[in-house]
Amino acid sequence: MSDNKRVAVFASGTGSNYEAIMEAKHLPCEVVLLVSDQPGALVLEKAAKYNTPTFVFDVEDYKDQADYEQKIVEKLEKAKVEWIFLAGYMRIIGPTLLEKYEGSIVNIHPSLLPSFPGLDAIGQAMDAGVKKTGVTIHYVDAGVDTGPIIAQQSVAITEHDTRETLVEKIHAVEHELYPQTIHQLLAEDSN
Ligand code: GRF
Repeated sequence: MSDNKRVAVFASGTGSNYEAIMEAKHLPCEVVLLVSDQPGALVLEKAAKYNTPTFVFDVEDYKDQADYEQKIVEKLEKAKVEWIFLAGYMRIIGPTLLEKYEGSIVNIHPSLLPSFPGLDAIGQAMDAGVKKTGVTIHYVDAGVDTGPIIAQQSVAITEHDTRETLVEKIHAVEHELYPQTIHQLLAEDSN
């Protein structure tokens, strides 16, 4: 019998981190569901390419956060999902999802938390003039980017960096660090 964990990835945008997870070698998991709140997101084209089943919703079709999260929980339970990896999912995780999955929901954020939480962390770091930013992988709790930190890697900001070069450097780190960290978490979960 396979020891692979059943995981879901949540994404709202391009999905380069989803792609990095799909391309990672020997990850002890199967991505059994991709959840997106953006019916037009590029990540959905990637999900089609990898044959990952999707659940796509539009918040406008739901009464409130509890209502759409309840629907997500139903999909996750049906797919027997054990871990959730957020990869550019642009919504706060509410009590409905946390109650079922806290401790098994992980996020990737493009700064060295607790610096620069929230939106546009890369722009915040550039505006602050810091010489070092980075990537954080953390458990999700009820706050915004406040949960316990699992892994971090720093990225230097030089005088030659523009927003584009910095985004590129941060993405390159993310695409290595996220699969590595997922591997470690899932390996520990099997012990
Ligand atoms: C990443 O920079 C991640 O840290 C942040 O959102 C971005 C998602 O990028 N949470 P992508 O959609 O995976 O390309």
